[in-house]
Amino acid sequence: MLNIGIPKETANRETRVAMTPTIAKQLINKGFAISVETNAGSLSNFSDKDYEDVGATISNRDAVFKAQIVAKINPPNKDEINLMEKGSVLISLLFAQSNTEMLKLLAKQEISAFSLDAIPRTSLAQSMDVLSSQANLAGYKAVILGGAEMGKIFPMLMTSAGTIKPSTVVIFGAGVAGLQAIATAKRLGANVWVSDIRPETKEQVQSLGGKFIEVEGDSSIKTEGGYVKGVSDEFLKKQQEAVTEKVINADLVITTALIPGKKAPLLIPDEMLAKMKPGSVIVDMAVSQGGNCTSSEFNKVIEKNGVKIIGEGNLPGTLPINASELLAKNIQNFIQHLTDENKFKWDTDDEITAGSLIIKEGDVFQASLKELIQPELIKA
Ligand code: NAI
Repeated sequence: MLNIGIPKETANRETRVAMTPTIAKQLINKGFAISVETNAGSLSNFSDKDYEDVGATISNRDAVFKAQIVAKINPPNKDEINLMEKGSVLISLLFAQSNTEMLKLLAKQEISAFSLDAIPRTSLAQSMDVLSSQANLAGYKAVILGGAEMGKIFPMLMTSAGTIKPSTVVIFGAGVAGLQAIATAKRLGANVWVSDIRPETKEQVQSLGGKFIEVEGDSSIKTEGGYVKGVSDEFLKKQQEAVTEKVINADLVITTALIPGKKAPLLIPDEMLAKMKPGSVIVDMAVSQGGNCTSSEFNKVIEKNGVKIIGEGNLPGTLPINASELLAKNIQNFIQHLTDENKFKWDTDDEITAGSLIIKEGDVFQASLKELIQPELIKA
């Protein structure tokens, strides 16, 4: 029987947990054993008793890290890695490209590590895609947080005291977070303008009731697997010209622009910010990747020229109940995909396994990472 250990997350401001009682029950019914660290779910409103009621065991930290599979959210720290057993399996967000010291420790401990953020964005993998499930919630919350900082309402309101005009929301990036932000702002009655550099997003934006900010197309835009791989500076300059007027007139701007593996593109430089209306609000969702707005600050709300700029780095963590529910379901689907009759399949011809397996029993599996961490030095 495979035992899955669920630690309490220790990262700063983390409220989520990788397993919920509902999903624990489903996994137990499939033949897994689940041990959950004391109070692991308390900030997501899941009590130890809730887990025990479905047949999970509540254990201390050391015991949870000794499980054959450790499933968690944030990349493990040194102490956590040292607690894990040789030959065990870690499933977590790892952001491997930017966490090479952690990779060396994982390899040294001779464990196998799957990175949830490296699961390919394919239709088959959608049910396991943690980045998407969390970005979806984050897009919703960005609108709510932005609205709470505005001195205005979103919808048009006709009253005997006069008519209130609807607020204007500008959203950069129509990926997972952006599309949910569009839908949420529309449901609240805002007038929504959207800019994305992938032309195919125009139709999706319009189907949600958003208006697409047109920029003349450019053959420099390269996409792969639903992601932008590169775009010319010339195109970005044309985009800036097209969006400036919309941003100046906006009440709320939400930026979600991302090019994977690169620093977030700069979309709101200080010169543009200086032209924005006092009282308007920016939510910079890309703040963890350097920000789409020059002035945003990680995990802070600041005010500049009368414009509030929200740089919350863990929006899903502000919705821990739903965020944990979706994470746990993603992790369940992933574990069930990787195992058969309670054994790991290690099917490296499978696209999902091949994309997300970072270290296999101490050996770096991804070619691109081998160069980064010089494996010959690890076991020396
Ligand atoms: P995604 O890859 O689905 O969407 C990003 C979109 O940005 C794509 O449609 C892409 O074409 C577009 N884009 C790239 N360059 C652009 C540019 N110059 N102008 C306009 N659009 C551009 O990514 P997803 O999952 O929607 O995440 C978006 C961002 O939100 C990421 O930076 C992600 O890390 C962040 N995020 C932040 C959270 C938080 O708590 N602050 C939580 C979840 C996601």
